[in-house]
Amino acid sequence: MGLLAPSILSADFSNLSQQIRLTEIGGADWVHCDIMDGHFVPNITFGPVAVKAVRKITKLPLDVHLMIEKPEKYLEDFAQAGADYISVHVEEAVHLNRTINKIKELGCKAGVVINPATPVESVKDVAEYIDLLLIMTVNPGFGGQKFIPNSIRRIKEAVDLRSDCKANFLIEIDGGVNIDTIKKAHSAGVDVFVAGSAIFHSENISAATAELKNLIK
Ligand code: DX5
Ligand code: ZN
Repeated sequence: MGLLAPSILSADFSNLSQQIRLTEIGGADWVHCDIMDGHFVPNITFGPVAVKAVRKITKLPLDVHLMIEKPEKYLEDFAQAGADYISVHVEEAVHLNRTINKIKELGCKAGVVINPATPVESVKDVAEYIDLLLIMTVNPGFGGQKFIPNSIRRIKEAVDLRSDCKANFLIEIDGGVNIDTIKKAHSAGVDVFVAGSAIFHSENISAATAELKNLIK
């Protein structure tokens, strides 16, 4: 059974509490928080203050995706704000092993993220230390983009890497997940699915959530 993590990047922020509640009714498992600083990606979203507010809204695990430069500088802030998972981009983590240790010392689960052009192989030497590998299936920065087709091969590589390294991280994908792409990604071995526009830009948030959930049973 796959897990569904609606990304609030595409939610109506003027009504965030009601929007998150609707995903819970539809069976959402996590809440995905896209943190962007306008440097690592060409977009700015929100920070620890917003994560703290989301923490008050829901009991679901908060899956914090740091698309920021020097993520190691902000780990405490996001841990104190209530993050359950903190994921950093390998492209931005010079001392990745140290950063993973720090996330765990803060009591959070540690995730690493790879952009669409970053080889899966690049996380081999941290595979046994991480709880989550997030494979970007779009170029980070915006919701509503198209699923990059070679992601299926990359998912399979991640499944093989996990077994070769005797690791047990969850495999998550993020970007362009919808009713047309979710099933083949699930068959390829994905455990956690981030979906933003497919949920929050739908006619009925709870129904859209339930429909995606149904496809990853
Ligand atoms: C993009 C974000 C994704 C995005 C997904 O940089 O990391 O989480 O919000 O949005 P959709 O599901 O609309 O592609
Ligand atoms: Zn994300």
